[in-house]
Amino acid sequence: MSITYSPKIVEHFTNPRNVGEIPNADGVGTVGHPVCGDVMRIYLKIQKKKGRPVITQAKFKTFGCTAAIATSSIATELVKGKTVAEALALKNEDVAKALGGLPPIKMHCSVLAEDAIKAAVADYEKKIGRTEIEKKLVEEGREHEEKELLSRRDPI
Ligand code: FES
Repeated sequence: MSITYSPKIVEHFTNPRNVGEIPNADGVGTVGHPVCGDVMRIYLKIQKKKGRPVITQAKFKTFGCTAAIATSSIATELVKGKTVAEALALKNEDVAKALGGLPPIKMHCSVLAEDAIKAAVADYEKKIGRTEIEKKLVEEGREHEEKELLSRRDPI
């Protein structure tokens, strides 16, 4: 059975954006699919801008199929310049849509991209020691309250 890909998928597969790794990345997320065996790793550089954590750089290394490469490429493009909360809101359907759609048999490749972004953000959260409550405040766009919580913490 042959698979037909959109021109955008073919373009991102043949000319993938943001390939590689980020030394000293703020967040690294690695996910794999148990059935096909594809593995995706996403690196994020995150900086506070106007008090909000913003993804300033995103790169990937993927061992996988055409769609896995294309979804990694577009996902890193989609999250660049976004806040962490906006990146967490990215769904696999958004990734697929940005590529002009994915064949149904390849939708799970876009799920890997969504999960890799979430895993990289989770790694970032863990590194900065953010608690669940603080994380929720950021996700809800209530960073001012998160700042207040952080200011109440004992200095390390
Ligand atoms: S076939 Fe599994 S990620 Fe593409």
